[in-house]
Amino acid sequence: MDIVAVVVVAFWVMLPAYIPNNVAVLAGGGRPIDGGRTLGGSRLLGDGKTWRGTAAGTAAGAALALLLNQLAPAATDVLGFSVPTFPALVALGLAFGAMLGDIGASFLKRRTGRQRGAPFPGIDQLDFVVGSLVLAFIARPSWFLETFTLPVLAAVIVITPILHISTNVFAYAIGVKNEPW
Ligand code: CTP
Ligand code: MG
Repeated sequence: MDIVAVVVVAFWVMLPAYIPNNVAVLAGGGRPIDGGRTLGGSRLLGDGKTWRGTAAGTAAGAALALLLNQLAPAATDVLGFSVPTFPALVALGLAFGAMLGDIGASFLKRRTGRQRGAPFPGIDQLDFVVGSLVLAFIARPSWFLETFTLPVLAAVIVITPILHISTNVFAYAIGVKNEPW
């Protein structure tokens, strides 16, 4: 695979993990997952992690993966190299893993004295990648190893923070997100 193919495949395969956090921002609200509970004086997760946001984000990411499966043959034709398709369990794993990674990061933020919305450089940009990759691996180890070759993984690590920062700055600029990270 040449570099363009690697980057396109990395983007395609991670789309179901990219969407959940953005959908959660739009759909979030209502009851926080931690129900207001605290641990050592700080909230367990905080008001920024809600059941509704998590469910909507997961559903949107998984649905997008299934839609991409429908588009894959046409995309493969147009691009001249094949894009991967998602087994159903992987679709769910990528989407829910992204939400879980983000929730895990909030847990760490609260343990390190960071208030809701405080930045956590590095973690903010990659937490959901770790979650989605781990759950995708658990869902289908053989699919994971075939799809996430070392070049694709390297591309994911490079393009994800760039995309994450630019979409959040955009979401902040149009007023749907409270902070630009
Ligand atoms: N959101 C949600 N449920 C999630 C993730 C996000 O409802 N599982 C919504 C919340 O409204 C949240 C917003 O999306 O405020 C932005 O998400 P994020 O930046 O992850 O949360 P923060 O409010 O910044 O909180 P934290 O410091 O815990 O990251
Ligand atoms: Mg935040």
